[in-house]
Amino acid sequence: MFFRERSAQAEFFDAPGLSEAARLAALRELDYINRLCQFSHPFVSRLPAWLGKKGCERLEILDVGAGTGLLGERMSTWAWRRGWDWRFTNLDANPVIFKSGYAAKNVVGSALQLPFADGSFDLVIASQMTHHLTDEEVVTHWREAWRVTRDAIFICDLHRNAGLFAALWLTMRLLRVSENVRADGLISVKRSFHLGEWRELAARAEIPGAQVRPYYGTRIVLQARKKTL
Ligand SMILES: C[S@@+](CC[C@H](N)C(=O)[O-])C[C@H]1O[C@@H](n2cnc3c(N)ncnc32)[C@H](O)[C@@H]1O
Repeated sequence: MFFRERSAQAEFFDAPGLSEAARLAALRELDYINRLCQFSHPFVSRLPAWLGKKGCERLEILDVGAGTGLLGERMSTWAWRRGWDWRFTNLDANPVIFKSGYAAKNVVGSALQLPFADGSFDLVIASQMTHHLTDEEVVTHWREAWRVTRDAIFICDLHRNAGLFAALWLTMRLLRVSENVRADGLISVKRSFHLGEWRELAARAEIPGAQVRPYYGTRIVLQARKKTL
């Protein structure tokens, strides 16, 4: 059946030789959709209760597959309004091109071989990046995330289901999103995951105490901490 298995269909985003201008234009459109869909909400709504207010006061955060770095900008601004200091390192396979007043470190690198020492960050996050990988690569990506965190990982991606597919199809039509980005958005849902698949992959990655939870039927969150072990 249509949503039973993960699709292996390639995204326009991942095409080898995609020009910098085309990638940038696609990311700008993705940022527009992300803003409207409140893509930072799973993070800011769940992290404070999970890490505790004291634990949120100062965080060194790595965002893996950061795209333009918009998530870091939004989360650090949100934290700053609460008197918290959240500093971001944005890692992506392509150069991170976010331009604003917010200071972040931008690093080009692979989610599968993070260029950081063990325990370099308080928190490692990823948003809508994991579905770009094969199952084998997801296991490596999570092992790497777990290696470079000294405390927590919080990974978020889309939940593969017909409702999300239909809602996204309609939203992107109404927003007049370009053809390639529309196609990628729908492929992203088909490449995404069910809860059970993430539980199995977390077990394969040997992340102790990993919790996999739904977020309003649209996303899935994997979270695990070292400090509570
Ligand atoms: C759909 S975008 C998501 C961007 C942003 N995190 C968001 O939530 O909108 C996926 C990003 O993951 C990056 N990416 C894909 N595979 C990667 C890998 N193996 N290592 C690092 N980044 C990767 C892509 O370059 C792209 O910027």
